[in-house]
Amino acid sequence: MHYRRAFVRHFQGLDAEMAPFISTVDAERINPKLLKDVLPENNSGLPLIPQLIGNKADDFVQMAGALHDLGYNEINWNLGCPHKPIRRKQRGAGLLPHPDRVDAFLDQVCERIPCKVSVKVRLGVADKSELMELIPVLNRYPLNEVVVHPRTAEQMYTGTVDLDAFEEAFQALELPVCYNGDIGSATFFQSLKERFPTIGRFMLGRGLLANPFLCEEIKPALSHFRKCESSIDRIATFHDELLASYEAALHGDQPVLGKMKEFWTYLSTYLSNGRKMFKKLKKTQRLATYKAIVGEHLADAEWMGSEPPEKPWNKQ
Ligand SMILES: Cc1cc2nc3c(=O)[nH]c(=O)nc-3n(C[C@H](O)[C@H](O)[C@H](O)COP(=O)(O)O)c2cc1C
Repeated sequence: MHYRRAFVRHFQGLDAEMAPFISTVDAERINPKLLKDVLPENNSGLPLIPQLIGNKADDFVQMAGALHDLGYNEINWNLGCPHKPIRRKQRGAGLLPHPDRVDAFLDQVCERIPCKVSVKVRLGVADKSELMELIPVLNRYPLNEVVVHPRTAEQMYTGTVDLDAFEEAFQALELPVCYNGDIGSATFFQSLKERFPTIGRFMLGRGLLANPFLCEEIKPALSHFRKCESSIDRIATFHDELLASYEAALHGDQPVLGKMKEFWTYLSTYLSNGRKMFKKLKKTQRLATYKAIVGEHLADAEWMGSEPPEKPWNKQ
């Protein structure tokens, strides 16, 4: 929520946000802390879609009810998380090879939930035909949207998206589809628009974390924002505000450093001296040193535009 709030104050062009997933729990265990990230008073001002991960319809319905009480009218069900511990419990992408379980879950949930349901899927665990087998099940329910990330779970975040497999899924889905995956430049975005002209929704991920100007580049009507102030100044004020927000909310150097190091994993990509800065930051254990390194490097940095030679996060 800190990131979402700061982002929206400094960059234009997003239409909505999806919150990181919340795990469903038994009704009696819905601790208010679990919902802190999506409390309306913590929101950025943009429409927010909360996301749940789980495989028990009763728990999902309970939590969806609590979210509806907070004012949310759409809940996304995560069927895409590729991490093995999640998959092993048949949650996230672990449910993709089990159309019967998905069917039983949606049957219960869609009947009883007071708001709209959307789902986020991958192509399968290891086998991309799994999504194709799941689609007839999805088509039976009044889902608000199906967000498709055309990678398998085994791929995690590596390799490339499979646009042919996406096309096949898109043609088979009788529901509104949102494309997600590897949108890192206006050029790639345009190529998707040309290949899939009827898709109205695109979800951005790491590309936007690396280049917060991406929506302004994608939407021609927003190009004037790029000219107002230098890109580095905008990055610096965004950074300073986010850092201050974490410092106010977290206790001690380590948690703040953890958040800020994650932030630079992506955002250092387009800085001329980003790689050098990030190497130094990774070793830093003190916030004062962190601030000195960032200040020194941002003073010298240039923003390198939107086609970096490589994406460092893919190498992790
Ligand atoms: C660190 C990290 C955390 C993520 N958390 C979530 C999440 O909570 N819910 C979700 O639907 N996707 C999550 N994703 C996946 C992204 O939403 C997106 O599907 C994925 O990164 C592919 O899109 P991209 O290539 O544009 O980044 C996460 C990805 C990363 C790298």
